[in-house]
Amino acid sequence: MTDAQPVLSDAEIAAVRRPYLAASLLPGRAYQDEAVFDHERRHWFASDWVCVGRVEDASDAGTYFLAQIADEPLIVVRGRDDVLRAFYNVCRHRGTAVVEAPAGKAVRFQCPYHAWIYDLDGRLIRAKHTEELEDFSFDGYGLVPVGLETWQGFVFVNLDADAPPLAAQLGDLTAPDQFGRFDFGTLRSAHREVYEVASNWKLIAENYSECYHCPGIHPQLNKLTPYDLGGDFEPDGQWQGGWMELIDSAETMALEGGHLNGRPPMAGITPVDERRIYYYVVWPLVFLSIHPDYLLVHRLEPVEAGRTRIVCNWLFEPSTIAAPGFDPSDAVGFWDLTNRQDWHVCELQQRGTASRSWQAGRFSTMEASVHAFDLMCADRYAGDGRQTGREILDRARLDRSRLAAGASTGSDRSSNDAAAANGRSAARTGARQRAIAGHSTD
Ligand code: FES
Ligand SMILES: [Fe+2]
Repeated sequence: MTDAQPVLSDAEIAAVRRPYLAASLLPGRAYQDEAVFDHERRHWFASDWVCVGRVEDASDAGTYFLAQIADEPLIVVRGRDDVLRAFYNVCRHRGTAVVEAPAGKAVRFQCPYHAWIYDLDGRLIRAKHTEELEDFSFDGYGLVPVGLETWQGFVFVNLDADAPPLAAQLGDLTAPDQFGRFDFGTLRSAHREVYEVASNWKLIAENYSECYHCPGIHPQLNKLTPYDLGGDFEPDGQWQGGWMELIDSAETMALEGGHLNGRPPMAGITPVDERRIYYYVVWPLVFLSIHPDYLLVHRLEPVEAGRTRIVCNWLFEPSTIAAPGFDPSDAVGFWDLTNRQDWHVCELQQRGTASRSWQAGRFSTMEASVHAFDLMCADRYAGDGRQTGREILDRARLDRSRLAAGASTGSDRSSNDAAAANGRSAARTGARQRAIAGHSTD
């Protein structure tokens, strides 16, 4: 990363790296320019750990799925020794794609062109009419391996053979006060949706990182977790995140008031967690939303500067899925609606930021996690090895300044009665104190 030439000007990058309240957003070219996208593909996606799926997608010996990172075609397959491996899906003879079906089960892989055969562990085991070749042995012509690690049931790959381990990228996301108290490896997907969005992948990550837009864009979501109840984490790793507080009558994010409908909390969920929804951007391309009863996963596949495919999975405990009457449609319907609301504004933003008139905007005081995400990008664009720390705002100070300015803290809510607003005001104060302390699982 550090040897890459900056693709944005020093001034553009410096404006993002200023302290939060003085900073600007990324410039328009970061979302529009194919050269910037190409830079991200070659220097970010090809050298960082990128999530490509779940362990359950290749659960038995011989099951495999295809993936594409930085335009590179990959196979992820489980061997007979139960080890999950990743390879370039490129035949060592004349470069043909060895596997065509996007997922399946194989005993071995046979190239469709001249029938060279590879074992599930990538070894070349058959190549007719090569016996008399000079300087040739099957040992040197197996499928080229790619680094693979798993975490919480997610499969990450890394095209850079010299990359540090995944744990170095995740940093303190694995700590007990974050994901360390969970074992999401056992969760199973009960539903999957794939969205094609005419928007840059970073606009989608920024959108996910704030709820400033929730009152107007997500009236249904804003009723269950009011946009100004929550806090932000202070990560030491390549991630950013925060949480939202559920209103008293809601138990989760779902249609018709947000009820669990008999679904128990996931293993590891604490009483504090039962009142919250946690949102994490795990750099670069996966968002994890922890609900009391399910884990929502958004996995992004950037296609071009202005186009992104988003694979969304709703994961539950296997025992929850197996319970009589299990029906995730309230959770699926809620997030499918919310997703489409988000994709719509991301597409509008993609169009607007293409205008010659547009210059990098400013963050409101509700967008600390957007700044945190943009900092991860700006540090990489700069390529100077410096990692800018994210800033947790002293929200109490902001409250005081808003009060001093005569603003009512509840005046901009969309649809709540006064009693509910008072109740939430007390809850909000608590949430903000935790936010100031910068921690989650008190
Ligand atoms: S290209 Fe694969 S066997 Fe010839
Ligand atoms: Fe949203």
